Amino acid sequence: MNSDKDKIENKEVNNKKGQEKEKTKEYTIELKNATKRFGNDVAVDNLSLSIEKGTLTMLIGPSGCGKTTTMKMINRLVQLDEGKIKLNGTSVYDIDPVQLRRTIGYVIQEIGLFPHFTVFDNIATVPRLLKWDENKIKKRVEELLDMVTLDSSYAYRYPLQLSGGERQRVGLARALGADPEVLLMDEPFGAIDPINRLKLHDSFLEIQEEIKKTIVFVTHDINEAIKLGDKIAILRDGKLVQYAVSTDILYKPANQFVENLLGQDRSLKALTLKRTKDFISSEDVLTVSKETTEEEISKQLQKKNQIVAFVLDKNDKLIGRYWLEKTKKDKFEINYDEKPVLTEQNSTLNESLSTMFSSGEKMLPVVNRRNKFMGIIRLDHILSLIHISEPTRPY
Ligand SMILES: Nc1ncnc2c1ncn2[C@@H]1O[C@H](COP(=O)(O)OP(=O)(O)O)[C@@H](O)[C@H]1O
Ligand SMILES: [Mg+2]
Repeated sequence: MNSDKDKIENKEVNNKKGQEKEKTKEYTIELKNATKRFGNDVAVDNLSLSIEKGTLTMLIGPSGCGKTTTMKMINRLVQLDEGKIKLNGTSVYDIDPVQLRRTIGYVIQEIGLFPHFTVFDNIATVPRLLKWDENKIKKRVEELLDMVTLDSSYAYRYPLQLSGGERQRVGLARALGADPEVLLMDEPFGAIDPINRLKLHDSFLEIQEEIKKTIVFVTHDINEAIKLGDKIAILRDGKLVQYAVSTDILYKPANQFVENLLGQDRSLKALTLKRTKDFISSEDVLTVSKETTEEEISKQLQKKNQIVAFVLDKNDKLIGRYWLEKTKKDKFEINYDEKPVLTEQNSTLNESLSTMFSSGEKMLPVVNRRNKFMGIIRLDHILSLIHISEPTRPY
């Protein structure tokens, strides 16, 4: 049993840990009273913002509020008028421009890729500027294409031969070319249709889990901000309105402006903070290979008292689904589905629930960005775990 003394001691230890944590916080990018004017107009107004190493910070606000200007001040495409911007404690004006370009990757929506360069040459741009040898560059391009889940045949295509989503993947690979420490992404998925955008989000989150870069990501979509961001910085007229972790933005909006930005359905938006992978059932699901016969699958399912089996290839990629259906005579009939409805592990809970509701499936297989089977989610299990609070009404 814990004595009171133990408790006090524990508390002290915890406090100490807290202080240490505070001390060891490393800020990769620091803006101090950064100001930029164009003529008489103030585009960025006395902006102070410290961005922690390894975090994904979303910069959001209405059009013209200074998001792009802020990004361009960080990588020196726009000259600062007043204040300071530091990268790892050094003013960006004291860093050699080539070194700065090496340290900061930049992804933008429109200009993106060089149209007359192949995908390979696009991704190789910065490594070539840095005079890497061609063998090292080749290895790096292959690695990056794999990371953004494009197979190696894409290397010799031109940007015009790609879909919008594929182009954005190449854009991300190019920005990561020389393994920069920081990524600035200015509305990178803005021109992508909603379905492909969700896919890009899921891949992007998975990639960030692997590479843990310091990322500043501009968006004007609050759902995108809540889904992706560790922290969210809200700008209005070049000024910082609120800067906090996503939960705090959602539950403690600083003012009416932030509340309006969040919109009506805040309790539903809160589900955006939850990831599908945290709701994967621990139950034993039947997975089979392509070679397993229908008879065998049917037998195994009945033995396990289950109705669904997933077909995986030798790399555990999901390639199909079998399911049993009761016939009139109380017998079972086996059915095959080569394109089962599925969801991705980094999809938000509301995206997965929405897939369930629109498909009528109460159970979905979960995959990663390489389509590897990760497990299943069940509607009843999810509903037993979440609590959606009703907004209180004044009447
Ligand atoms: N090169 C420029 N010359 C003049 N005004 C500019 C220039 N770049 C941006 N601005 C102005 O600065 C403000 C902020 O622009 P920007 O940072 O692009 O906003 P956002 O990216 O948030 O939409 C806008 O009023 C815009 O018109
Ligand atoms: Mg902009």
